[in-house]
Amino acid sequence: MPIVTFLPSGKKVNVPSGTTLFEAARQAGMPIASSCSANFVCGRCNVQVVVGRHNLSEQGQPEKALLAREKHPPTDRISCQTRVMGNCSITTRYW
Ligand code: FES
Repeated sequence: MPIVTFLPSGKKVNVPSGTTLFEAARQAGMPIASSCSANFVCGRCNVQVVVGRHNLSEQGQPEKALLAREKHPPTDRISCQTRVMGNCSITTRYW
């Protein structure tokens, strides 16, 4: 199973392939911003991918548009829409 590492703490969680980053953070007990309960509306659950971008689901146009609308860097990922396919490390401004 893929391992998601949360930086800077280094906390790790094993998740089944296909789990969203949002779900992985919740399973690890990491706080993750949201005001839409992972319904791909608010754009607050963005995370920065430090390692393993290639191990995540592709970033579609709707995700790019939401990142732009919320003025997040285009390299961020909307965690409730991004699925883990292999090992990766992520962080946020508030961890
Ligand atoms: S939790 Fe609202 S867009 Fe992800």
